[in-house]
Amino acid sequence: MLIRRPPDIKPSEITDRDMYYSRRQFIAGAAVAGGALLWPGRNATAGAKLPNVTPHKLSTNEEQTPWEYITTYNNFYEFGSEKSDPADYSGKFKPRPWSVAVKGECAKPGVVNLEDLVSPHTLEERVYRLRCVEAWSMVIPWVGFPLADLLQRFEPTSNAKYVAFTTVMRPEEMPGQKRRVLEWPYCEGLRIDEAMHPLAIMAVGLYGEELPNQNGAPLRLVVPWKYGFKSIKSIVKIEFTRHQPPTTWNISAPDEYGFYSNVNPEVDHPRWTQAKERRIGDFLKRETLMFNGYADQVASLYSGMDLRKYY
Ligand code: MTE
Repeated sequence: MLIRRPPDIKPSEITDRDMYYSRRQFIAGAAVAGGALLWPGRNATAGAKLPNVTPHKLSTNEEQTPWEYITTYNNFYEFGSEKSDPADYSGKFKPRPWSVAVKGECAKPGVVNLEDLVSPHTLEERVYRLRCVEAWSMVIPWVGFPLADLLQRFEPTSNAKYVAFTTVMRPEEMPGQKRRVLEWPYCEGLRIDEAMHPLAIMAVGLYGEELPNQNGAPLRLVVPWKYGFKSIKSIVKIEFTRHQPPTTWNISAPDEYGFYSNVNPEVDHPRWTQAKERRIGDFLKRETLMFNGYADQVASLYSGMDLRKYY
């Protein structure tokens, strides 16, 4: 995600990607050589294995992006706006204990502890493509469960047309929240039928382990047919609403980031093309696919809609 800043430099242009990785590898190597147990990009909370994870049929069998890239090349502005900031500055963040407040247009609102929200028997591995609006992508083996399963427990009423999500607000643990780069707390939203779609998941892990802080511990959304910024991290509030809720990047730059934000190679970002993407680790760019390759499953959600208008 980019904040317009003079003279309009993309973060990816500030540090060349290959230089960036060789620098990280150098740091990692130096940490090991120096006897350090953890390199800066691996915070101490990551690592617990999740039990009973079953592979899921909606997974892609494309080559998976290595753990090191998934956990050190992040967008999580609460920890800073450079890609390496979340790994470097999320060590103080405490993802446990955790609870989520669910409210709004539903019969059974309430505050639920993480342990009661996540049943270890329903954890699945969903290997999904993640396509960021900045035109890079990864393939990530998430561990999670259908968002619909969580939402249905609170019995949304027929007035629930949208679902709004909010990230935790903890400036003492999230240094980026002390700066007004975005309006805090980060918020996102989906239409109710999008939220109930079987591809949309709540993720609690990756590569079979609990989510590292930088990836949105302990609980984050993953909506694989939308640009990455819809996949809000470290969620503490879910609200069923009658009206379309505000979303952080739309507030920040309404001409650039719409509410729907479906991956669409035919609709360019005002400042760059969305037709191609670079898979992290690849040299050559590849074509971006409509709905990030999930068109067969989700295109019907948008039939009759002008996707240029509803970007
Ligand atoms: N959620 C919060 N709370 N804050 C953020 O800055 N960044 C978004 C999204 N969720 C963001 C967030 C963006 S732009 C992307 S691309 C994905 O998280 C990145 O997820 P990853 O770091 O696990 O790859």
